[in-house]
This record gives sequence, C-alpha cells and structure tokens, in this order.
Amino acid sequence: MNNNHSNHSNFTSKIGLILATAGSAVGLGNIWRFPVLAGQNGGGAFLLLYIICVILIGLPLMVGEFAIGRHAQSNTAHAFSKLTSHKIFKNIGRFGVFTGWFILCYYIVVSAWALDYFIDAILGRFSKLAEEGDAQIYATYFKDFVSNPYLPVGYTILFILISHFIIIQGVKRGIEKFAKLMMPLLFIVMLVLTVFSIFTEGAHEGLSFLFKPDFSKITFSTILVAMGQAFFSMSIAMGCLCTFASYFNKEANLIQTAFKVGIIDTVVAIMSGIIIFPAVFSAHFAVDSGASLVFIALPNVFQQVFSHLPILSYIVSILFYFLLVIATLTSVISLHEVPTAFLAEHFKISRKKATSIVTFTVCLFGAICSLSNGPLSDYTLYGKNIFDLFDFLSGQLFLPLGGLLIAIFVGWSMNKTIIHNQLTNFGTIPGRGASTIVFLLKYFIPVITLLIFLSGLNII
Ligand code: PFF
Repeated sequence: MNNNHSNHSNFTSKIGLILATAGSAVGLGNIWRFPVLAGQNGGGAFLLLYIICVILIGLPLMVGEFAIGRHAQSNTAHAFSKLTSHKIFKNIGRFGVFTGWFILCYYIVVSAWALDYFIDAILGRFSKLAEEGDAQIYATYFKDFVSNPYLPVGYTILFILISHFIIIQGVKRGIEKFAKLMMPLLFIVMLVLTVFSIFTEGAHEGLSFLFKPDFSKITFSTILVAMGQAFFSMSIAMGCLCTFASYFNKEANLIQTAFKVGIIDTVVAIMSGIIIFPAVFSAHFAVDSGASLVFIALPNVFQQVFSHLPILSYIVSILFYFLLVIATLTSVISLHEVPTAFLAEHFKISRKKATSIVTFTVCLFGAICSLSNGPLSDYTLYGKNIFDLFDFLSGQLFLPLGGLLIAIFVGWSMNKTIIHNQLTNFGTIPGRGASTIVFLLKYFIPVITLLIFLSGLNII
C-alpha cells in the first residue's frame, strides 16, 4: 500500500503536483536550449523529431520514474535500493542524485546570467547599447560580463540563495506554493510575448521556419540531438521525477500526469520558438547562431524589431528575461530538492541542515564553473573549460546512461505487480497505455539510449 512515513510530505492538490513537476521540466531547456537547437537543426524538422522523442522516449521514462518514486515514498537513492538487491540497479538512484547535483552546479551559472539580464533590461541597458549603433557591442557586453571575476559569481550565489529559502519552507509551503504562483504567471508572460511576436513585421518567415519541416536537414546526429534534448527538457534521469513522485498522493494518475507535464513542457518550448524566431528573422539575424542566441542576439533583436517604439523593446526585453528567470528558478528548485531530500532522509538530519549543505556545495562548485569563463579559463580538459565539461559530461554521458539503466530496470527487473499497481492505482483506474509504456521501456528505449550514450563517447 501507499505507506507514507510520518516525515515524508505530499503535494496537497492535483494541480499543485502537476504545476510543480511541470515547473521542474520547464526551464532553460525550453527557452534557451530548444530554440538554439531548432535553429541549428532545420526548425520544423527538428520540432517534429523532438515531439516523436517526447512521446516514444520521454513519456515512458517519466512514467517509469513516477512509478518508482511513488511506490517507494522516499528520495531517489532509497527508492531504488528498496526495490532491488541487484548491485548495479541499487546504485541508479545514487547516480541520479549525483547527476541532479552536478547539473545544478552549471545550470545555476546560466540562471545567474538570466537574472543579470533581467536586471539589465529593467535598467534600460540594452537600449543604451543600441545607441552605440554597433551590433558587435552586444557580444562584447556578454563576454565582458561572463568573464568578470565578481558579478556572475555574485548572481550565482544570489540565485541559489533564493532557491534555498523556498526549499527550506518544505514541499507544500515552499515548492508547491511557489509553483502554483509562478507557473500561471509564466504562461501569462509567454502569451503576451507570443502575441507581440505574431504581430511583428515579417513574422511569417520565422513561423514557417519553425513549423514547416525541411526533411533534408535531418541526419542521424539530428535524431540524437533531439533525444538528448527530450531528456534534458523533461528532467529525466536526474532523480528529480522520482523524488517529486514520492510527494504524489495515492490518487494521482501517473500516466495522465506524465502526459500533462509532457504537453506543458512541449507547448512552452514551441511558444518560445514562436517568440524568438519571428524577431530573429525580422532583424535578419543568423538563426543558427548557437548558445549565444538568447544572450547576444536577442537583446539586440528586441531593440531592432521595435526600434520605431523604444518603449516596446524595453517592455519586451523585461518580460522575456523575467520569463527566463521564473522558468529557471522552478527548475533550480527541483534540482536543489533532489540531493536535499536524499541528505535529509539518509542522514536523518533536518531539512534546513540538508538544504544548507547542498546550497554551500553548489555555491562552491557553481562559482568554479562561473569563473571558468573568466579567471579560470586556462584550466581545460580535452579543450573544454570546467563549465563546458560539466555540460558535456551531464548532457552526453550521465543522462543517457541514467536513462538506459532506468529503462532496463523498469522493463526487465522491477516487479511487474508493483508497476501494475502504480499505473492502475491498485486496480482502481484503467491505466490506459500501461502495456505500451512497458513495451517501449523494455525494448525500444534501451537501444535508443545506448545509441545516444555511445555517440556521446564518439564511439558511433
Ligand atoms: N528540465 C529543465 C530544463 O528544461 O531547463 C532542466 C532540469 C531541471 C533538469 C530539473 C533536471 C531536473 F531535475
């Protein structure tokens, strides 16, 4: 049965649990990474591939993690060790906790950039840069900022402290309450920006880039990129979905919840494309400009597109970076929660103590990642600085490996009665789609995730 232990919290409402989980999924992955990857991989064709990956790989893995977490009613590491005595499978949970923490150390650095750009937008700094009349100035501005020894580290620490004070309030009063407040706000801001974007002059070029698939752009590597993005964006294999599912109540329909979260996450990625591409096309910027799109091209694009009405570029810039900050914060909170829940339950320490330990270590490693774009930029391994190394190791290796192990575990090793009970709520709901999900986890996903893993190692 659903054995809540006394000190293990639950989300209080259905909407709360969906918004908190969607809050984890929606983040930099949707607003920063998705448009960059779509821009580099043929727009509409990438979108189509991405949606297929979400349905065939992302959703089944999400349901699998939900089933493990809710059954075990404990943090990810304990969840796996409760379910199996097999040495490798027992450690998947610990590996997930480590991956969550590891990702947080560099994710927080980009979150800090978003926070700085939000403040810059409020102070009207981008319109001042526009007055210089040189497009290169935005790149210089960004490079000067990220390589500054103090500012980005300061914002990194500030961001993690904001998350700290929300997490410390607990699951209901902290995570759930914050998600209930912020997710609707995120949608409102996105809607306003989408409307602005659709009415931009020349919007149709950007929209047809996003929605008209050009299949000549699809290669094997595009497929791998789309799969990797589905993992990152849906928060898979980082212990987060499993930890959050341990806070679900016994009435939650796991398959439906995964669908709802998957739909919200994908809609936000598409809306972000709708916001960004029309503006980029109408300002005649390169749509495949890569990671710098959001921090170098966009501030300039917003100035140019609304140059006839500067107040509009001011408002749109503020709204866009505000959106990025909220989306990022809800994800940071969920990443922060994974090691916090583990430490609190494993070492039987208070939530406050556990959160503080995570906050401290993330401040330390986050600062190192941040400084690797400036004073520590000479410390490299295989030509990558520390920040890029964290990104590479987590995105190309840890996530696919975690996904592979989870799929094999749920598909081949986990007790079938437990899976059935979790997906049908002990026979009280039909659990439609359960057998397809188990089939995908057993045969299809292990092969596919193995391919991503090998390609990350440059073996294929
Ligand atoms: N899914 C988040 C994004 O798209 O930005 C990133 C993330 C959050 C990954 C939480 C993992 C996680 F546990």
